[in-house]
Amino acid sequence: MNTINTIQKFRVWRQGIEGSLGFIPTMGALHDGHLSLIEEANKMCPHTVVSIYLNPAQFTSDEDLGTYPQKLQHDLDALSRFQVDVIFLPMDSEMYPKGFSTYVQETKLSTTLEGESRPSFFKGVATVVAKLFNIVQPTHAFFGKKDAQQLLIVKKIVNDMAYPIKIISCPIIRKENGLAMSSRNSYLSESEQKMASLIYQALQKGKNLIISGERDARAIREEITRTIIQESKLHIDYVSVAEAETLIEISGSIPNKILVSTAVLLGKTRLIDNFSYSLSSCRE
Ligand code: PAJ
Repeated sequence: MNTINTIQKFRVWRQGIEGSLGFIPTMGALHDGHLSLIEEANKMCPHTVVSIYLNPAQFTSDEDLGTYPQKLQHDLDALSRFQVDVIFLPMDSEMYPKGFSTYVQETKLSTTLEGESRPSFFKGVATVVAKLFNIVQPTHAFFGKKDAQQLLIVKKIVNDMAYPIKIISCPIIRKENGLAMSSRNSYLSESEQKMASLIYQALQKGKNLIISGERDARAIREEITRTIIQESKLHIDYVSVAEAETLIEISGSIPNKILVSTAVLLGKTRLIDNFSYSLSSCRE
């Protein structure tokens, strides 16, 4: 396992590599969700690169860039249990050199859900992911369904901009109580994490309603909302039932493939979770 922190050194290493290269971009504070992506890359590719970069462009000034958990030694220890050729730890001065003025922006899928509440978020994500793809030049890149909208946008960018990269979608890894793993969970106490698991329970109730035959998007949204608001400390930003490919919110009867997603605030901590569902295959 080799750590590299300049683009030039990475490129020298990359030139010597043959065969498929799996890439997992992260912002660090690694947990089992991140590690599941690395496990998947290890299964599919003879070479694996993980990047750890806390990307300032995807945080607004009132968000948690300053307090976002950073645990480099813990991350290196966790990664040592996997087959990782290189951990890429780029410096701000290389990712955003003085005078940086070029951004990548997906303009449709980025405007709704997370994009509505966090207007510059996906511009920051798209820019850093595109730049990392240009540096790392992976054949495969692994992303979690936990960030379903991000995954969809990355796939769209790869398609629109003809990146020769296969995007692999990986399942959401959860704690035993159902709470989706997230680096931001470390902001929460044990009892808050228990409260937050209600978000998963609410989504499960929504899913069960669909399984039992409900097709009205509003009824599904209401069932999820009702469950979340049982806990007065959970404040809903949105509960969405959207068409899975376009993320267009559904007002009447649900189409074949949907993404059901929610963003909830517990104190200052923003928690997101989702499930996708296909009526024709009756599963995620
Ligand atoms: P980060 O939040 O560190 O997540 C890195 C990757 O891990 C993403 O693909 C995310 O979807 C996945 N992930 C996080 N929690 C997961 C879970 N519980 N189960 C499965 N996968 C999970 O997402 C980012 O960083 C950044 O936006 C990034 C893409 C690195 C660009 O800066």
